[in-house]
Amino acid sequence: AAVSVEPYRIKVVEPIPLTTREQREAAVRRVHYNLFDLRAEEVTIDLLTDSGTGALSAAQLAAGMAGDESYSGSRSFYRFHETITELTGYQHVLPVHQGRAAERVLFSTLLEPGRIVLSNTHFDTTRANVELSGAEARDLPCPEARNLDSTEPFKGNIDLEELSRTLSGPDGSRVAVVVMTITNNGGGGQPVSMDNLKRTAALCKQHGVPLFLDAARFAENAWLVTRHEAAYRNHTPRQVAEEAFRLADGCMMSAKKDGIVHIGGFIGLNDPELAQRCELLLIATEGFATYGGLAGRDLDMIAQGLTEVTDPGYLAERADIASHLAERVRAAGVDILEPPGLHALYLNAGRLFPHIPAHHYPGHALACQLYLEGGIRSAELGSLYMGEEDEHGNPVKAAPYELVRLALPRRVYTRSHYDHVGETLEKIVKRAESVRGYRIVEQSPILRHFRAKLQPV
Ligand code: F0G
Repeated sequence: AAVSVEPYRIKVVEPIPLTTREQREAAVRRVHYNLFDLRAEEVTIDLLTDSGTGALSAAQLAAGMAGDESYSGSRSFYRFHETITELTGYQHVLPVHQGRAAERVLFSTLLEPGRIVLSNTHFDTTRANVELSGAEARDLPCPEARNLDSTEPFKGNIDLEELSRTLSGPDGSRVAVVVMTITNNGGGGQPVSMDNLKRTAALCKQHGVPLFLDAARFAENAWLVTRHEAAYRNHTPRQVAEEAFRLADGCMMSAKKDGIVHIGGFIGLNDPELAQRCELLLIATEGFATYGGLAGRDLDMIAQGLTEVTDPGYLAERADIASHLAERVRAAGVDILEPPGLHALYLNAGRLFPHIPAHHYPGHALACQLYLEGGIRSAELGSLYMGEEDEHGNPVKAAPYELVRLALPRRVYTRSHYDHVGETLEKIVKRAESVRGYRIVEQSPILRHFRAKLQPV
């Protein structure tokens, strides 16, 4: 068997700040207990997102140095295009500056008021871009996704019965596109099986509705397929990925995740007429069709990253480090959304702090504790993000679960960094009953979690 260690060593390092408890207390007070407003220099281990936070390889940096910065027709674009066409089979490839730009360009071209988009789960910006086009975004997660503790391997699947019912029902003719998010970030980073994807593709074909992948984490999805889907046990992640892309009519991709770059993305598709219409909008709003808002060096680094990301050694190590952290978290006495995926762990803060009501944000309380105790930044995914209260702070709507996401940047932190996360959680669990919640003192009408000011209750 292959040796299970990091398939890379560290050539360039970047210092991270080590702060004192007093400094962290002063920092959270200054930002009104909103961790988005911290300066990154005040954070020791930043698990806010796995997006654009990965470490570049020497080969990516070298490719970037050789980037061709011509305004049009650069060598970098042709390498980017060829790499993506080989991986996906899509004939038309449009570069964009990040995933949400791909969403905006595709949806403003494809959608109009009255149309519907169906998905296993829309990511926030995907939903926002559907709604900005006047269309409706409907999530159809599979029933197993509702049970956080179930260890079913493919909780990212779409509900096929619901999909079939909707496509053949009265709303069927209004469905403009089906979007399959792999892995399902909004649904806890859970993967989609190839069987579910094939059945979805067949239903879409039967009803004449295009199927697009939101492929931000396609390689991680492919890895989990090779681990858990019997028919794919002898496939490489690359083979699974190639097949997945070919089941769909096109994709949107944020390359900031499985492209392992700091910025970039693309739309891939086969329909020449749709590609042409997207291209016009791209040129007007992102940049000429051979760079789409990116530098030539970015295109080269994406092309290189896309070939590295399906390496089985890399993916095995990524899965292993996520399981390592999951073990530490469970040992500390904190439940996670099971089973752990590759890009993030979702801590069950509601269960850890049963004494904190939803409108005092148990997830936010845990995120603040992680920072105060260990200098760790995470993201609340609970009632601060999805809930609602009246003007007196009384609960109107609570999130279904109170979670905290620990996202794992690619190739960045070592096991000892993650051990520190486990040790910090142990300390928090020991005095869990004394942890208090928060209330909002100032908020914006939409996306309140980014800018809200809070106070301990
Ligand atoms: N689709 C998925 C599944 C995503 O997770 C994201 C971003 C996007 C689209 C949008 O891509 O950021 O390049 O514009 N997710 C990040 C996260 C922000 O932290 O999960 P983008």
